[in-house]
Formats: sequence, structure tokens, C-alpha cells
Amino acid sequence: MAKAKTQFICQNCGTVHSRWAGKCDGCGEWNTIVEEDPMGGIGGGPGKVPKKGRAVTLTTLSGEIEEAPRIHTGISELDRATGGGFVRGSAVLIGGDPGIGKSTLLMQAAAALSRRGHRIIYVSGEEAVAQVRLRAQRLDAADTEVLLAAETNVEDILATISEGKRPDLVIIDSIQTLWSDTADSAPGTVTQVRTGVQAMIRFAKQTGAAMVLVGHVTKEGQIAGPRVVEHMVDAVLYFEGDRGHQYRILRTVKNRFGPTDEIGVFEMSDKGLREVTNPSELFLGERNAKSPGAAVFAGMEGTRPVLVEVQALVAPTSLGTPRRAVVGWDSSRLSMILAVLEAHCGVRFGQHDVYLNVAGGYRISEPAADLAVASALVSSLAGAPLPADFVYFGEISLSGAVRPVSQTPQRLKEAEKLGFAGAMLPASSAELPKSGSRWTEIEDLPDLVSRIAGS
Ligand code: TYD
Ligand code: MG
Repeated sequence: MAKAKTQFICQNCGTVHSRWAGKCDGCGEWNTIVEEDPMGGIGGGPGKVPKKGRAVTLTTLSGEIEEAPRIHTGISELDRATGGGFVRGSAVLIGGDPGIGKSTLLMQAAAALSRRGHRIIYVSGEEAVAQVRLRAQRLDAADTEVLLAAETNVEDILATISEGKRPDLVIIDSIQTLWSDTADSAPGTVTQVRTGVQAMIRFAKQTGAAMVLVGHVTKEGQIAGPRVVEHMVDAVLYFEGDRGHQYRILRTVKNRFGPTDEIGVFEMSDKGLREVTNPSELFLGERNAKSPGAAVFAGMEGTRPVLVEVQALVAPTSLGTPRRAVVGWDSSRLSMILAVLEAHCGVRFGQHDVYLNVAGGYRISEPAADLAVASALVSSLAGAPLPADFVYFGEISLSGAVRPVSQTPQRLKEAEKLGFAGAMLPASSAELPKSGSRWTEIEDLPDLVSRIAGS
């Protein structure tokens, strides 16, 4: 028999190379290419007899299809991120940095589901059963009927979860510890992870159990990251947050059964994760509104408004090339706003260092934050505090115009709810709510600068 042909696969993005290289062309990462036997896990084992499939027409399906059957956890932030609960027969990947709280979240979800009468199996490949139980105790989940197993071999896991009554939900923590007898590569490589995940997805589809897969985001690339299985699963959620801060965000990046722009917000406490039903209150919690350079941005995450403080510090520099540092926002977007302020308003930052920070470790991705950033910058440079009871939003174009953004009424409603008395927003925004609040429409950046510097 001819020697099996091996391939060289990038552990970060899954790109296949014909020979080894130091750098992957696909994703540009270094030292991520590993030699593997790609056919190892495919084919379903020796001696398998092929089965004929059955094709059906779309019309015969009508009437049979209902809403995807979901399992609600009762943890509303988690249900919101998954689009209403875990879907039976589907696979969800939950990715995130090591130590961010994935196992904690899933143990809490498992306990909540078990209390609702569901049969849950938690398979841990990283911690021993005793360790998992210890964590469960800390989370007040030790009195539930969650079944624990500490296994890493795919065939053993399948045997364990097929035993007895069918599970409603299976948690695999984590995909990087999975290894199968049918694949020759080392545990943690792309082939092993894909083979293991494939087997788990097959189990979910066959039994109607919901499958939750945990994947660590890896920096080194020596073990495969969650990216390589994202396309195989039905939904992908990322658990994000800054380890220096307590809050965590569960963000949906792919969902075959629901919206992808929802987030769930949690706070890490000594008794596990707590739901945060009003994130704005959390992000505005430690606010010092009287100092210059702070502007509250009225943002949106999916269907939910989130108010967060943008802080700028503009200080004279002693360096030849002034410093630009950004936390929680896009640094090229900051450069653009600085350039537009210089070009259209004559506000000069050439002799100043500029620091921009989004409070609470939160990350803003909306361009609608432009106006809040520009306001914070001008306020800091002028040493003039902004009105404490105003929120800001609007996108800035290269010409200096302030452009309308979506969901204006929701942003304003949230601001009013939290006690803000006014907003600076783009002119010609959608219909503004009629109330006692002051809605100040801003045409362009020079208009904004004259209002801030003149106030
Ligand atoms: P963990 O869920 O183990 O992270 P992951 O599975 O994503 O690697 O969370 C680990 C961190 O969470 C650890 O640093 C301790 C902290 N933690 C708490 O602060 N409170 C708790 O109740 C628990 C269980 C963990
Ligand atoms: Mg873990």
C-alpha cells in the first residue's frame, strides 16, 4: 500500500500547503503550519457500507416545518445571545480567551437547564470531575442533576453520551482536548479538532440533542483555534471581556437560527457570572462628568441601546512624533477624525499626544461614535467640560459633515431613561421624540467645535 500522503495545515486558519513554510500565506501567522494526515478522520472507519440518500422536493416539506425547537436556559442574557435558547439538533461554538469564563458560564447554564428538568451532560477534557464539582459548588450548582464526565477521546465520549436516556444538551469543554483514534495527528491539531467536532455534530443531528462546543482562542497557533471549525457549526458566539474588568460580553458572530448582532452582558463575581440587564448603568457607573474630555456615546448593540463614556486626553508632547493611543476603538478611525478636525476646523493636534479610552473596557465598533469622539477630543484640547447631561452620536464624513445614523429614537429613549436631558446628534435625523429634552442637531464639525469651544 502506498504511504499515506500528508499535508501541511495552518493551525490558525486551516489553509492547506503542499510543503512546510514558516509563515502561512492564508492568514500571515508564523509557525502555525503542522504536518498532518488529512484523511485520518474521514470515511467513518473501515468496512463501512455506503448508504443511498433520499432527495425530497421543497413542496413536500411545507407544513412539516415549525420554529426551530429551542431549549431555554432562563438566563435571559444567554438566551438573548443565542436568539432564544439552544436549538435541538444543532451545534454552537463558544469561543474566547482562556480564563475569560466560558466554563463558568456553561456550568451555570447546565445547572439552570437541569433545574428545568433537562438532561445535561458536561464533558470536561481539561479539568477532573472533582475540579468541575468544586466549581459547581462555588456557583451553587452542586445540587443539580448535571452529569459530569472527564474524557478527551472522541469514541469514549460518544459511548458515554449515548448511554442511557438521551441527553437534551451536551457540553464539550473544550474542542482542543478532543482526539480520535481514527486520526493520526497529535491532539489539538486541525485534523483532530475537525474530526472530533464532526463526530459531535453528527451525534447532535442524529439524536436531536443540542451540542455546545467550547473553543479557546489561541495566540501561539500550536493548537488549532476555534476559527477552523466556525464554518461547521450552526452558531458561533464569542465570550469577550477584559480580565482587568468584571464585565463580559457574549457576542453572536454567526447564527443559522437567529440574529447575529445581539449581545448578552454579564458581570463576573465571586459567585460566578451575573446577568447585567441594563449595561448602560454598568458602563456609566464610575463616571466623573465634570472633567474635560468625557463624552457619553449613545450606541446600539443589535436591538439594544448601550450608553458608554468616551474619554480623551489631549496633552502637549515632548516627542518629535506625538503619541496616539486608543483603547476600545479603532485607531485608524481616530486618525481620520483628527485629520478632519485639523483640515476643516483648524483645530491642531500636531504638538499634542492624544489618548482615547472607552470606559469600562468596553469596545465600540459603530462609526456612530465619531461625534462623541470628536466632542471628547475638542473638549480636552480646549479644557472645557461638556455638559454632563448630554449624549452624543453621529457619523463624521471626510468632508466634515455629520451624517445621520440608524435607530435614533431608541438611542434617545435610552438616554432619557437614564436621566440625560439632551443630545447632540446629526441634523435631519429621523423623527425626534417630542419631550422636554433638548435635541441639538449638528450640521458639521465646525458647528460642533464652535458650540463646545464657545460654551
Ligand atoms: P473559567 O470559566 O475557568 O474560564 P475559561 O473556561 O474561559 O477558561 O473562568 C476562570 C476565571 O473566572 C478565573 O480567573 C476565576 C474566575 N471566577 C470568578 O471570578 N468567580 C467564579 O465564581 C468562578 C467560578 C470563576
Ligand atoms: Mg474552561
